[in-house]
Amino acid sequence: MTQNPEYAIEVTNLTRRYKGFAAVDDISFTVRKGEVFALLGPNGAGKTTTVEIINTIRKPTSGKVTLLGMDVTQKKYKIIPRIGVLPQGFSTFDRITVKETLQYYSRLFCNPNTDINGLIALVNLQDKVKVQYRNLSGGLKQRLGIAVALVNDPEVVFLDEPTTGLDPRARREVWKVLLGLKKKGKTLFLTTHYMEEAELLADTVAIVAKGKITAMGSPGELIENNANYLVAMLKSVDENVFEIVRNMGLAPAYDSQGHIKVRLTHTEDVRRLLNTVKDSGASFAGLDVRKPNLEEVFLKLTDEPLAQGFVRIKGAE
Ligand SMILES: Nc1ncnc2c1ncn2[C@@H]1O[C@H](COP(=O)(O)OP(=O)(O)OP(=O)(O)O)[C@@H](O)[C@H]1O
Ligand SMILES: [Mg+2]
Repeated sequence: MTQNPEYAIEVTNLTRRYKGFAAVDDISFTVRKGEVFALLGPNGAGKTTTVEIINTIRKPTSGKVTLLGMDVTQKKYKIIPRIGVLPQGFSTFDRITVKETLQYYSRLFCNPNTDINGLIALVNLQDKVKVQYRNLSGGLKQRLGIAVALVNDPEVVFLDEPTTGLDPRARREVWKVLLGLKKKGKTLFLTTHYMEEAELLADTVAIVAKGKITAMGSPGELIENNANYLVAMLKSVDENVFEIVRNMGLAPAYDSQGHIKVRLTHTEDVRRLLNTVKDSGASFAGLDVRKPNLEEVFLKLTDEPLAQGFVRIKGAE
């Protein structure tokens, strides 16, 4: 592999096995300097394993990973001062304050010049400098974790699920901080479950499932290249319609409003669906057919049902 100075990260044929099971299965990609790159995938997809190999914490089984031009298995001590890491489920000492936490981590990096107050302002924790870690809310803890990841003024920052478990408002506050870092030209490597997060922050999104990258590109390209089917939505349907659609060999799912959503591969399926439901005598208020959005593309590429999280099993209510 040729090393290109334009790239912050180059991953080639990376595999990580645990007793024969491939948690990461022969993946390759590059991350340009200054871009925000997101690994988007469900639980167990291999996101953390990938991140922790790139940031030198775990070892690969095979393949080659270069970070800032250096091989991650050979140049750990040169790499670590130049990167920052927010691990999944970040936690730190319970009984020291926000300011003390940042002072402590900056000492670990032997960095007496860290602008602690600047960092506190960057993550908007000015009102909390004297609050102990244990008394911060989840969103504030994550923002402190981001500040910790920045104490050595890193060129590349890894953020493993920075907003999981946060409420929508706290999530937006974290996004604001990350957008600020993006503006400053930091390279950000992010993992997330949230489509909305990837879409808002990332220049490039790699969708991962079962250790493989199933699609990669800008959010716009992902839709363009993978929306080769239609999503039909049947509104205000009566109870029988779900079963009727399923009997057509389709895979219906309820969405959050109780409408039935179904993927249609061919345009003639629209007519077939409409006729079958009409012929059954079941009543319904309308049928919408449209191209899938990014979330629906993601669910398809990760092999998950359309209305994941909202699927109601008939008769279970
Ligand atoms: N140290 C380990 N030993 C054995 N199996 C492991 C180990 N670490 C991870 N795995 C397995 O590898 C797979 C990928 O795990 P990983 O933590 O990388 O996924 P993830 O995408 O980060 O998931 P999540 O969204 O839940 O954080 C999972 O099946 C996990 O159980
Ligand atoms: Mg993980």
